[in-house]
Amino acid sequence: MTTVMVTGGAGYIGSHAVLALRAAGFDVVVYDNLSRGFADALTGEAFRGVPLVQADVGDRKTVQETVRRYGVQAVMHFAALAQVAESVAQPALYFRNNTVQGLELVEALLDSGVNLFIFSSTAAVYGEPAVVPIPEDHPTRPTNPYGMSKLSFEFVLESLARARGLRYVSLRYFNVAGADPQGRAGERHDPETHLIPRVLRAAAGDQPVEIFGTDYPTPDGTCIRDYIHVTDLIDAHLLALRALLTSTEAFTRVYNLGSEKGYSVREIVAAAEKVVGKPLTIRELPRRPGDPAMLVASSARIRQELGWQPRLGLDAILATAWAWEKRRPGAARRTRDAES
Ligand code: UFG
Repeated sequence: MTTVMVTGGAGYIGSHAVLALRAAGFDVVVYDNLSRGFADALTGEAFRGVPLVQADVGDRKTVQETVRRYGVQAVMHFAALAQVAESVAQPALYFRNNTVQGLELVEALLDSGVNLFIFSSTAAVYGEPAVVPIPEDHPTRPTNPYGMSKLSFEFVLESLARARGLRYVSLRYFNVAGADPQGRAGERHDPETHLIPRVLRAAAGDQPVEIFGTDYPTPDGTCIRDYIHVTDLIDAHLLALRALLTSTEAFTRVYNLGSEKGYSVREIVAAAEKVVGKPLTIRELPRRPGDPAMLVASSARIRQELGWQPRLGLDAILATAWAWEKRRPGAARRTRDAES
């Protein structure tokens, strides 16, 4: 049986990867320093028996011990800091965590004989798009240290592939949302900055929904994004893992992961109203600094090369996110009271 180490496995996307890997018959070890993840994200029947190694990815000794102890053969690397505004205020923190510690991780893995690696990259590597939908060969001009730290790490991977035989897939995520359809995992950030969970939290707490910017050059004046269900996103990781495991030669790929459909902030709010079954009050605020007007992926490359096909649309994203919001640890008391 193949053992996969999941860094950031106690976080939002990583915890969904753990579920999918186990369902597909892989052994999993979670590696997470719990700086942004939650140990209790790994509780419940579906996570029973999954070991958690609590350490930094830059801790080479612990990485190598983990590889030896569990017989790790491949790594999915989700652990990262991922808040754009925080990265602007503290760039060194982002380069240290996302780039430098990532380099330590990959070198430690290669030194231990592990050369199969899947990386969570981001649409933020593109910056302000010159064309939409955005293909992978679009110029990469990140506009914030978060995107820069992820792009720098892509260069690390590319260089180590040439020099040391690393085989990797870098997946550039667009807007990941939704929760496990069986309710075993979901989104839980502190603070929460993402649109969909913020809209649903506002709905649960009878607070106004905040819209950042209504004067963008889009049909309704609000930003357009490409939302992809976390389950579809993780399916792509499984396809990438299988491709790495069966490849016999150098394997280095970069793929976008998006649904290829764009929704404006107002469209998301309108769709959320249907799911929560009540009208939402909107508060229009100024633009959030650094938000591009429109980000929509071309995912043609991964569809063609790996046969990936996203299955869950916006309704499923909102329905699963809403189901999770109502039972999420730390959710508004009002919501729990309403349920009981
Ligand atoms: N927005 C609101 N109100 C909110 C929250 C967000 O109007 O309460 C707007 C934002 O201004 C933006 C859109 O909703 O226009 C989506 O915002 P998110 O924060 O959900 O997502 P982003 O597109 O900003 O961020 C995503 C990823 C980041 C990545 C970035 C690349 O989550 O990791 O894309 O631009 F860096």
